[in-house]
Amino acid sequence: MPLSEPPDAFPEEGWVAKLWHEQQAYDTVLHRHSLRVSTVCSLIAREMGWSKPEIVKIQLAGQFHDVGKLDIPLEILNAPRRLTPEERTLIERHSIFGGHRIRKLGETPVLGFVEEVALHHHERFDGTGYPDKQAGRDISEPSRIAMVGDVYSALWEKRSYKDAMSHDDVLERMIKGDERMSPAMFDPEILLALKSASPAIRAALTA
Ligand SMILES: [Fe+2]
Ligand SMILES: [Fe+2]
Repeated sequence: MPLSEPPDAFPEEGWVAKLWHEQQAYDTVLHRHSLRVSTVCSLIAREMGWSKPEIVKIQLAGQFHDVGKLDIPLEILNAPRRLTPEERTLIERHSIFGGHRIRKLGETPVLGFVEEVALHHHERFDGTGYPDKQAGRDISEPSRIAMVGDVYSALWEKRSYKDAMSHDDVLERMIKGDERMSPAMFDPEILLALKSASPAIRAALTA
């Protein structure tokens, strides 16, 4: 169920279409990555038995998880080279920038959900993530799902600095780990849900 248009499930949330188009206009790479994260997260949540309204919320949260990257210059965001330590630190601040951006939009329950994921989707289950070094179930479930959906999507995608990986290679790397990635960074239950949902995810991303 890839999203090509802003979902209309929350018509009272007038910020959705505006932010959607702002993000799309800023960077199509970011926009398309966000669509994939939104799709993967919603399929994981469905596999975990979430209700339809909750699934719509994580679709939105996936779409705006990296909205803080609108505060990062494009020449750094899409640099086809190794980043300097300062640039890397700036990019890591996108989760804080994203939380601020969403918080400024208001205080509805949906905005609170989206803000939480924007702020904490880089927290890792083993406590090695950022910005707050949360660990285990101290990390909210939506953010634990978003971390899995984000890593899956980022590995699957081709970027200016890396080639795409096949669906099977991505799954194997996340589940078994390698010298650069430990499976301990993921909630094991969500990793299992990713694996169970993988036929639907593969079909959605290659449609
Ligand atoms: Fe991110
Ligand atoms: Fe991301």
